Amino acid sequence: MPELETAIGSVRLPNPVMTASGTVGHGAELARYLDYSELGAVVVKSLAPYEWAGNPPPRVHPISAGMINSVGLQGPGLPRWLDDELPELADSGARVVVSIWGRSLDDYAAAAEILARADHAALVAVEVNVSCPNLEDRGRMFSHSGAMTEAALAATAACGLPRWAKLSATGDLVDIAAAAVQGGADALTLINTLLGMVIDTEARQPLLGGGGGGVSGRAMGPVAVRAVYDVHAALPDVPIIGVGGVASGADAVEMLMAGACAVQVGTATFADPRAPAKVLRELARWCAAHGVSRLDELIGAAHE
Ligand code: SIN
Repeated sequence: MPELETAIGSVRLPNPVMTASGTVGHGAELARYLDYSELGAVVVKSLAPYEWAGNPPPRVHPISAGMINSVGLQGPGLPRWLDDELPELADSGARVVVSIWGRSLDDYAAAAEILARADHAALVAVEVNVSCPNLEDRGRMFSHSGAMTEAALAATAACGLPRWAKLSATGDLVDIAAAAVQGGADALTLINTLLGMVIDTEARQPLLGGGGGGVSGRAMGPVAVRAVYDVHAALPDVPIIGVGGVASGADAVEMLMAGACAVQVGTATFADPRAPAKVLRELARWCAAHGVSRLDELIGAAHE
């Protein structure tokens, strides 16, 4: 069997396949379909330091090559999540990455302080989501500004865990990525959903309750691969987790060759809750069939 262990900075994982934030809920909902302990890590849906109701329905809609969502970051808030959901996740054997979000720098700092007090062995990293497309004031999305991205990352320093910055595919992604690292990000998760919209032609208005939304799934695969490739070329020492359109082992191989040291499986899980395990199995099979004995033989291979 190929050795699939990977390192995302100081975080060592037994394999590079994780769930993507927002696609397996906040807790162990999918544990009856998926052995969480088999995956590299489980990334939970983003949490604020407080409960948040999210956007009006409809919130999700299938599109020809994926889906669009306007969930609006609904969640119980970190304090309740730590009490009610994390223990069950930990019991499942998952290595847990907690995704956090905020509407202000103070929110990010408050989230980090709550996590600093949590002291839970199952938590391996914090994914700092600065790129949700579904907040009411989209013009202020943190990851559209290098300065705001750097400030949001810096605000989370107190959490005491490795921090991964989740970014979206803006034209100046390389600069934003560098700003995230400047703010203290140990790794980058690339990329969040792409801004999109579907019009209900009968009603003559946007279909989703939130108006616009975030496009995910197979349609965004090449966009995500390009983002990973460009950022790896510019910042070769910064670990990258590739996400966007990963539904098979071959998709994971593409991300790794572009420069990612791990991948996340997202939209595919809505169609098949076992998708992350399938991607892992197929990745192992691909490596065996191609004589790849260790994952780092693949990471960044497309740059050589
Ligand atoms: C959402 O809950 O609106 C999606 C979160 C995200 O894309 O960051």
